[in-house]
Amino acid sequence: MELNAQYWENRYRDESTGWDIGYPSDPIIAYAGQLRNKDTNILIPGAGNAYEAGWLHDHGFTHVTVIDIAPTPLNNLRERTPDFPEDHLLQTDLFKHHKTYELILEQTFFCALSPSRRQEYVHKMYDLLDEGGKLAGVLFDFPNNGEGPPFGGSKEEYLGLFSERFHIKTLEPCYNSIKPRQGKELFFIFEKKPA
Ligand SMILES: C[S@@+](CC[C@H](N)C(=O)[O-])C[C@H]1O[C@@H](n2cnc3c(N)ncnc32)[C@H](O)[C@@H]1O
Repeated sequence: MELNAQYWENRYRDESTGWDIGYPSDPIIAYAGQLRNKDTNILIPGAGNAYEAGWLHDHGFTHVTVIDIAPTPLNNLRERTPDFPEDHLLQTDLFKHHKTYELILEQTFFCALSPSRRQEYVHKMYDLLDEGGKLAGVLFDFPNNGEGPPFGGSKEEYLGLFSERFHIKTLEPCYNSIKPRQGKELFFIFEKKPA
């Protein structure tokens, strides 16, 4: 099965969206919410309904860009947060996007991609970050048995994937996961290494 735009759009249309928690996720807003500079240039890739983007916007963050390959979740965000800047709502394949950001927030996008694309994800995130920029958020911590999405992973695998191009600032069990994900998530902050 190809995890393409049609696949994801159908999941939204069929309301088969088990990943969607319906509110801004605690670990993401706890981290992003403590940023002092509300002009930080932030990207949320594979953002889905993007409750976190709405939260950041409502809390004064001025440069939050949301990308998703499916139109429905972006339309949902438009409806919920009508004053979210239209030019920061991008319906596109993340791998075809070419700007750079100071911070990229990850939540259930990495695990939604075929595991064969993990190296590609690492390189793309590297390219989408400014010098010294950060990729931060949550990654699942359960065995990858090849069934998904969501596809699992482990701390060891993530260290192997990201260490070459990122300084591993934090990669530890997430203390404030939402209840159904408790014990199954790692919170991480990876900083782009100089080229
Ligand atoms: C499992 S959902 C997670 C959505 C959101 N991060 C959340 O936590 O609710 C994965 C999302 O990634 C989007 N997606 C999948 N492949 C993509 C790609 N290549 N580029 C942009 N978005 C993509 C899907 O449309 C879907 O909304």
